[in-house]
Amino acid sequence: MKGTFPVSKFRELRTPFYYYDTRVLRDTLACIRSEAGRYENYKVHYAVKANANPKVLAIIRESGLGADCVSGGEIRAAIKAGFPTDKIVYAGVGKADWEINLGLDYGIFCFNVESIPELEVINELAAARGKVANVAFRINPNVGAHTHANITTGLAENKFGINMDDMERVIEIAGEMAHVRFVGLHFHIGSQILDMGDFTALCNRINDLLDKLEAHHIRVEHINVGGGLGIDYTHPNRQPIPDFRSFFATYANFLKLRPYQTLHFELGRSVVAQCGSLISRVLYVKQGANKRFAILDAGMTDLIRPALYQAYHKIENLTSEEPCETYDVVGPICESSDVFGKAIDLNKARRGDLFALRSAGAYGEIMASGYNCRELPQGYLSDELL
Ligand code: LLP
Repeated sequence: MKGTFPVSKFRELRTPFYYYDTRVLRDTLACIRSEAGRYENYKVHYAVKANANPKVLAIIRESGLGADCVSGGEIRAAIKAGFPTDKIVYAGVGKADWEINLGLDYGIFCFNVESIPELEVINELAAARGKVANVAFRINPNVGAHTHANITTGLAENKFGINMDDMERVIEIAGEMAHVRFVGLHFHIGSQILDMGDFTALCNRINDLLDKLEAHHIRVEHINVGGGLGIDYTHPNRQPIPDFRSFFATYANFLKLRPYQTLHFELGRSVVAQCGSLISRVLYVKQGANKRFAILDAGMTDLIRPALYQAYHKIENLTSEEPCETYDVVGPICESSDVFGKAIDLNKARRGDLFALRSAGAYGEIMASGYNCRELPQGYLSDELL
């Protein structure tokens, strides 16, 4: 089954572009709201890195989510979209001084700190401004997630976070600093995770750590477990809204939160992936020695996930109902890895046909580049194309 798209409107637009179905986005946000709303102490932030298109951000902000940022640019984008500054958390393994100052000036809720040298710098910069910064420590829980190696983050070998065993010492060091206030712990084990067991493993690690800290009379008010919930790339129409109920219930069932603790989430992909598609025109259909190519006007500069992670995005020919033929679907970039899919069965393609690359709302438009001096793709909401 193909998705439903306003194809006649698409014909008028310059391709390639991103198309965001606001009904899917709003339904997804409503589901997050009601499922997280079952638990009094849950707070959900949107991971801006997944998609910072201002029109998309505005809809997400309306739903009441906070913002998870990883750069000064993202903090600016979140504030421009109207996210309240006290709902912004800021993570990142390499925060520059100007970015820390920006966070301090806006009075963001919390800095997720990844090392002692970083803590020292935040303390100094906050002192210079006569402020006290809330800090949470990002902990490397050494939990492997069953996902692509490039997007696991919680293993000891990854660059992220502070080693669990050093935690008490780090909290003690923070306690001696006058311009930081220790408020919580931050975790994130990876992305595109569909096995709830991975999140259970994280809960178990956190439980052990909380017991240990409690024994040392250390009070942790905020626990942030990051994001990571995966989506169904193979069947984007089957269950377009991810299983938030199971996701939130996993934490409710396995994490032993104290009554005074708040649990924070940073969801990116699961919020925006399924509402977005990259729409592209077929430039040429070319018969090679032993295969047929559909050459699109979109390339890896517009959607890099297939080239970078061997990611699968379902491809549909929106303008043909002719019997299927088999194609390698490729872009125009001068790189052999500029391939969206090999041996894909599609309705017979002709020059000018419109293709949709589905489930591209997360880490699509935002990861676009100008390589080959190409223009960045536009993004349109379905509301605009009525
Ligand atoms: N929190 C932290 C600290 C993160 O590093 C990430 C994603 C998230 C939250 C949001 O995770 P999500 O809910 O989206 O899984 N470009 C890659 C994904 C990189 C994810 C990086 N961190 C891709 O296209 O698959």
